[in-house]
Amino acid sequence: MSAPRAGAHHRESSSKSSGGIITRVAARDDATAVLALDPVAATNDKRRGRLLREIDSGRCLVAERNRAVVGYAVLGHDFFDQGFVHLLHVGPVHRRKGVAVALFSEMEKRCAAAKIFSSTNRSNVPMRSLMTRLGYRQVGFVDGLDEGDPEVFYMKHLGF
Ligand SMILES: CC(C)(COP(=O)(O)OP(=O)(O)OC[C@H]1O[C@@H](n2cnc3c(N)ncnc32)[C@H](O)[C@@H]1OP(=O)(O)O)[C@@H](O)C(=O)NCCC(=O)NCCS
Repeated sequence: MSAPRAGAHHRESSSKSSGGIITRVAARDDATAVLALDPVAATNDKRRGRLLREIDSGRCLVAERNRAVVGYAVLGHDFFDQGFVHLLHVGPVHRRKGVAVALFSEMEKRCAAAKIFSSTNRSNVPMRSLMTRLGYRQVGFVDGLDEGDPEVFYMKHLGF
């Protein structure tokens, strides 16, 4: 199945990685593609509403390959005024091609704070490996969200 075409607007500030991956802020016409990437959005109105709000607020970034949106992430600054990566999804057929690395690189560039955080379930081996690979340090965990699967927090100093 081919991924939906990327939105046509708001390309003025984008970055291209060595793997031909373009990262940029999502526009409203990326919404269909972003919603299609998120498995929760398929059945959950609240997630759909949230993603649309994130796009409208400019906090959602997308990655494109061959003019198709293949991944998205949401970067906020509402966690103790530090950067926080709230959501991140790469389409299953586009994984292990550097899409998440490209999205993180864009978010680290756009982060307006000295530190950037993210979190994931302890059971999420791909995300935890990605964090280690990108030089993020494990800084704690929170029990009680998903029973038996703590949320592990990661942090990186951005060097300014
Ligand atoms: C986690 C996720 C975002 C990674 O995206 P991706 O584009 O495949 O990641 P990249 O190709 O940039 O991977 C970079 C590195 O991360 C690590 N990594 C990524 N996926 C991995 C996996 N399945 N197993 C082990 N390590 C993995 C590797 O070190 C990899 O480098 P390598 O491919 O050279 O070995 C993707 O698997 C995904 O969307 N998962 C479902 C949603 C999710 O878990 N989101 C994050 C937490 S909410």
